[in-house]
Amino acid sequence: MAGFLFAIIQSMSEHSRYEELKTQIHLHNYRYHVLDAPLISDLEYDRLLNELKALEAQHPDWVAPDSPTQRAGAKPSEKFEKTRHPAPILSLANAFGADDARAWYERVKKLDERVERTKFVVEPKIDGLSVILHYRNGMFAQGATRGDGEVGEDISANLRTVRAIPLKIPLDDSALRPPPYIVVRGEAFIRIKDFEALNKKLEEAGEKTYLNPRNTAAGSLRQLDPQLTASRPITLLTYQIVHAEGGDIPTSQWETLQYLKALGFPVSDAARRFDDIESAIAYAQTFEMGRDALPYEADGAVIKIDDLTLAADLGVVGKDPRGATAFKFPAREVTTKLLGVEVEVGRTGVLTPKALLEPVEIGGVIVRNATLHNFDFIAEKDIRIGDRVLVKRAGEVIPYIIAPVVDARTGAEKIYQPPTVCPACGQDVEHIEGEVAWYCVNAACPAQLVRNLEHFVSRGAMDIVGMGIKIVEQLIQAGLVKDAADLFALKKEDLLTLEGFAEKKAENLLLATQQAKGQSLRRVIIALGIRGVGEVMAGDLARRYGSLSALEKSTADELQQIEGVGPNIAASIVDWFARSANQALLKKLQAAGIDPREQTAEKSVGALSGLTFVVTGALPTLSREAAKKFIEENGGKVVDSVSKKTSYLVLGENPGSKLTKAQTLGVKIIGEDQLRNLAGA
Ligand code: IVH
Repeated sequence: MAGFLFAIIQSMSEHSRYEELKTQIHLHNYRYHVLDAPLISDLEYDRLLNELKALEAQHPDWVAPDSPTQRAGAKPSEKFEKTRHPAPILSLANAFGADDARAWYERVKKLDERVERTKFVVEPKIDGLSVILHYRNGMFAQGATRGDGEVGEDISANLRTVRAIPLKIPLDDSALRPPPYIVVRGEAFIRIKDFEALNKKLEEAGEKTYLNPRNTAAGSLRQLDPQLTASRPITLLTYQIVHAEGGDIPTSQWETLQYLKALGFPVSDAARRFDDIESAIAYAQTFEMGRDALPYEADGAVIKIDDLTLAADLGVVGKDPRGATAFKFPAREVTTKLLGVEVEVGRTGVLTPKALLEPVEIGGVIVRNATLHNFDFIAEKDIRIGDRVLVKRAGEVIPYIIAPVVDARTGAEKIYQPPTVCPACGQDVEHIEGEVAWYCVNAACPAQLVRNLEHFVSRGAMDIVGMGIKIVEQLIQAGLVKDAADLFALKKEDLLTLEGFAEKKAENLLLATQQAKGQSLRRVIIALGIRGVGEVMAGDLARRYGSLSALEKSTADELQQIEGVGPNIAASIVDWFARSANQALLKKLQAAGIDPREQTAEKSVGALSGLTFVVTGALPTLSREAAKKFIEENGGKVVDSVSKKTSYLVLGENPGSKLTKAQTLGVKIIGEDQLRNLAGA
């Protein structure tokens, strides 16, 4: 009986922990994906999620549709079901420039005198895909595409994976009670920096890169495998309540935006309300001037009548409501001549074609080069040297070629032949079955070495401050560096022989190199540049294996147990460690003192056990005493002076002579962040 009661009580407390975890994870999700202001680290987030998953594994009957685990991506479906929208999903008429916008205002003013007294809301017009989100009793119930405005496609399983979409509204237990049935409209899109990172990852994996953020977002949401959608960095901004039943909703556009925000939906923070049309137009123009700096592609601003009753009364022309207009920005597409194709060699040996263009101005910037994506793209689009080509520049995205202008051909254009040898080292290039990319497989190719080292020293990897591609090239050219490990054997005399190096610069670079020796296992794995292993996966591998030697011994089967590691990536990791040049590199790195460890299990006291630390200078957040306490609590030892036995020197601002001593003795130097990493905190 007692045992039975105990089981019930335990299950009750587990259940309340389960609910608490769900609430916390939703909150952290919201802080990260909607507010862009996380409260905890990715590692801490993963821990919460893992705890939740473990509870769900024990109690499968607890799993509700609003559980954060339900975003993972369901099984692929055969096709999308059609779904009728509860109200027409309208489009927008365009205004090209201020006069056009004024003309729109005059037209609607003539139709209804209330227009003169209304306010206006200006919002960015993001170039993405319209999505319609249904919530029943506060739970995400369905998500659809716009379709023809009357009937769309049910893409709920895909939308569920988009973390900016709340699965439950309101997010917290606030008094706000939305109507039991509410339908919200927003624009799903991919931020430019996420798009570029995605393409970089695809390129490194030898896969086809995407052409632009809009197509990627639309394509990823309209394909049948939710797991693929889950792996794409799609986000969302909402701007309309399409329909509501059983409760009141705001009657102005401005209040709608505040209301959506309060419910936990992402809303643009660039939206503004104005008392008169001229101020609204002026803002749209300012917005246009700043379009290059926007984190997403915007093809205009939307000027909306704030009073939604008035806007509805104004009616619709075709599919365009009279109550709003799209203040379109000029398209940044021009045609110019393709003078030639230059082939660049990437870090993994991938060859990428780059267009050399007759210089042309696009939106105030002179464009001379553009991406041609890959050799298949050139062939598929039949792009010829000498062609006039359509080039687009959007926001910060690298300009790209859209298509040739076939009608402008003179007959003098030449069909492009992809290279059969590497343009940097002259060796034969290879094509891997199933991939679009062509590779230079010569491990000693100088172009690859430059790119490899550029990546190795970069901020997200070993973070050798002050070392960039220029210095890397100098070092390679001077024969001082033949692989990444050679960077750690550099001496001041070596650096002083290089152009542009004086005492101070050389010393700083050496110190930065020394400091990099203490980088975390995750960063070292990133730095190795294994094809298909990006930042997130490097973190997973570090946590799973804990050291380079353990990772080296992993098998493809074992690797595939890790979420996100498929057969290609597993093979790429195994292959990387099997290569003799890489084996030699690892040995050299280890000999240089680069052999980081990471805790593999949950954080436990003792992560620093067996290690001796010396602290010097002022650390960013920890006082000397607090640092000592932190190290000791994690099982480490703190001593006052540096000796050969010191494992790490923890370096802060204005260090004393301990730094010089540590440098002479070759003791690893780390910062506070790295100390925390070591402790798994
Ligand atoms: S309002 C009645 N607001 O632009 C509501 N649309 O060219 C009509 N879009 O289909 C739409 N950002 O996909 C509106 N802040 C915004 C928008 C926006 C992007 C898209 C939307 C629409 C298209 C019309």
